[in-house]
Amino acid sequence: MSILVTGGAGYIGSHTVVELLEKGEELVIVDNFVNSKPEVLDKLRKITNKDFKFYEVDLLDEENLEKVFQENDIESVIHFAGLKAVGESVQKPIEYYHNNITGTLVLLKLMKKYNCKRIVFSSSATVYGDPEIVPITEKCKVGNTTNPYGTSKLFIERILQDVCFSDKEFSVALLRYFNPIGAHKSGLLGEDPNDIPNNLMPYILGVAKGKYEILNVFGNDYPTKDGTGVRDYIHVVDLAKGHLKALDKIRKEAGTQIYNLGTGNGYSVLELVETFKRVNNIDVKYRITDRRPGDIAVCYADPSKAKQELGWVAEYGVEEMCKDSWNFAVNN
Ligand code: NAD
Ligand code: UD1
Repeated sequence: MSILVTGGAGYIGSHTVVELLEKGEELVIVDNFVNSKPEVLDKLRKITNKDFKFYEVDLLDEENLEKVFQENDIESVIHFAGLKAVGESVQKPIEYYHNNITGTLVLLKLMKKYNCKRIVFSSSATVYGDPEIVPITEKCKVGNTTNPYGTSKLFIERILQDVCFSDKEFSVALLRYFNPIGAHKSGLLGEDPNDIPNNLMPYILGVAKGKYEILNVFGNDYPTKDGTGVRDYIHVVDLAKGHLKALDKIRKEAGTQIYNLGTGNGYSVLELVETFKRVNNIDVKYRITDRRPGDIAVCYADPSKAKQELGWVAEYGVEEMCKDSWNFAVNN
């Protein structure tokens, strides 16, 4: 019996693969490398000293994806594969909806055919839109997403809930990630965007390495402690561990389970930049610019449901996140 990890060569997928292999799980990874590199697979073997099966397949390619189900006894799926660049999704909505939603539907069709009834899904805090209250609980209203990427997450959540409703043996965990940063301690795995990064930490790393001249801080007139946006940054290894806990849960229980995976702490842009500079002893030049359209002021989780029901708590703090991000950047 194996776990199928879609998008397992990507940033969060690869860190989760390490945790799963270290726990002794049998894995089959599927990825088309649209946003990752084959070298990651060797790094995973190097870190864990364990092996897994790998298929270079696009989820949209039903015929080849079916071979994965034919050749392996898949008991659960952890579904990371998807496109995630918010700005690009606004420019290319059809590609984003097709890849993320159709890809998930093809996967679900095959899961049904091969009687695999468990899936952990990578959702996002973006489904809450501009939150009514902080900290955000799982009971907060979802909707009002501001871009096709976010809307694809919202739709997939709904599709998975409908599948669960139709089949009482089906179990789904919807994991709403807050802002993953950080990297594996080995320095071998981390976030390695192909294009100019949109997210804060990859951009800080680019400036610290001299690849970009200066960080644009998008607005300092938000109603926050220093006027800059506040987010719940979570170490990617903590996030990865949350998937194992969620998997344990859905192996025991049918139905839909929803969890926020965050630390519960909000940090402003300037706090993150200052922490990064201090712990790594390196300068990061920045300037204040206009707000980025679509941004919200404050977003952080109430992670107490995951603590109560999964026994999961994020352990790393923001200093560790900044150190590990930099360690990966200098090693790559
Ligand atoms: P990533 O781009 O590093 O990883 C996604 C992986 O999926 C990549 O390796 C990519 O090549 C693969 N992929 C994409 N489309 C595919 C397809 N059609 N067939 C096969 N493989 C495909 O992204 P990540 O940061 O690791 O994110 C993983 C998941 O978590 C995504 O679904 C993302 O939307 C979600 N998520 C990420 C964040 C974040 O900040 N990183 C936040 C919330 C949710
Ligand atoms: C973004 C996505 C969100 C996604 C999340 C995690 C948008 C509008 N939202 O959220 O859908 O789920 O990433 O992948 O893109 N910032 C700067 N300068 C920069 C980059 C960012 O000041 O160069 C600020 C932002 O204004 C924000 C904070 O840093 O206040 C974090 O930004 P980012 O890393 O892009 O994440 P989110 O905006 O939370």
